[in-house]
Amino acid sequence: MDFELSDEQKQIRDLTREFAQKEIAPIAAEYDARGEFPRETIMKLGELGLMGIEIPVEYGGAGLDTLCYVLAMEEISKADASHGTIVSVNNSLFCNGLYKFGTKEQKEKYLVPVASGKKIGAYSLTEPQSGSDAGNMKTRAVLNGDAYTINGRKSWVTSGPVADFVLLFAMVKPELAHKGTAAFMIDTTQPGFERGKVEPKLGIRASATCELFFDNYRVPVTERVGQEGDGFKIAMSILDAGRIGIAAQALGIAQAAFEASVKYAKEREAFGSKIGDFQAIQWILADMSTRIEAARLLIYNAALKKTRGEKFTRDASMAKLYASETAMWVTTKAIQVHGGMGYSKELPIERYFRDAKITEIYEGTSEIQRIVIARETLKQFV
Ligand code: CAA
Repeated sequence: MDFELSDEQKQIRDLTREFAQKEIAPIAAEYDARGEFPRETIMKLGELGLMGIEIPVEYGGAGLDTLCYVLAMEEISKADASHGTIVSVNNSLFCNGLYKFGTKEQKEKYLVPVASGKKIGAYSLTEPQSGSDAGNMKTRAVLNGDAYTINGRKSWVTSGPVADFVLLFAMVKPELAHKGTAAFMIDTTQPGFERGKVEPKLGIRASATCELFFDNYRVPVTERVGQEGDGFKIAMSILDAGRIGIAAQALGIAQAAFEASVKYAKEREAFGSKIGDFQAIQWILADMSTRIEAARLLIYNAALKKTRGEKFTRDASMAKLYASETAMWVTTKAIQVHGGMGYSKELPIERYFRDAKITEIYEGTSEIQRIVIARETLKQFV
């Protein structure tokens, strides 16, 4: 495997790093405290081409590869994981999904504005009774004439409070279980669509999350994405790609916590020495950097497989599982290295710790990733 970055990949990494450190990192704590959606910086990320990184230029994107997406996600999330979440959902769950499964007309109408960052996209699969068991959705889409009528309630929709368009999954024929599902493009300005209150969350507080309510919402057949019956498979296939983005988000959080810990270990003194002179701290730093590097290699591997057009379901789950658990471990240890200061809101360490937790939950919990990895492994080695 060749992980040597091309000039284009280095350029994207450097451009994103410069923007993220200059414009995002300084505002992250304040937006986290207020739980406010950072619209201005998200719009600027759109202008830089970072809201539709892998989408071809003709559809409003930057036309870059998955490794570019991963590098950008790491840099953005290193500055602020909330921005990382918004960018990841827009890129992987909305744009990537619509590009892969949408019609030419749907792409022109919805993908161009979202990939170019002028509008915001969301993805809505989860319901109050179906998180991990995603096939058990109750939101109904009933075909009457040339339109479906949608009724139901969706939950935990990232960017739901601000989304212009939503890629929605609903049940058309409940008797067929997951084979009776379909995907639809929802225009949030249309009647029958309502948003719930913004969820108060432990971490990624500047990314907005809410429930969505559908009350006799009418969606024309032309706005169905893919075939009737394919909804669940489309949702799963999109999540494969999404999990690479969340893995890169976890990597960015871990990298930020690690760099802060190294700096602190070189500055802070105890018992007449820098704390970095003690093996207790050195071993933590050694384990942090080893785990981060292993996570990075798993992520790059999944990204390269996706770019080459190979199956990457197992690789994406491995990358997400390992990177998210690494982020949680590294941020926990980063607080320990910083002692009382790590627990204080004066430093960003406690925010890294709070933000890391969600990466073990959304787009498939660590337990779900282990199921996917085990199933794919058993299939592969028959
Ligand atoms: N790609 C394409 N098709 C897939 C697939 C994939 N990755 N995974 C499964 N399928 C297909 C299967 O081949 C199968 O097809 P057939 O019916 O033709 O045989 C069908 O889908 C059903 O598959 P399973 O029997 O494996 O389904 P399951 O009910 O056992 O569920 C699961 C599998 C892995 C547990 C799945 O439900 C899952 O991933 N759950 C987690 C859901 C999740 O990640 N939710 C997060 C939502 S998004 C979010 O977090 C919010 C946000 O905004 C960020």
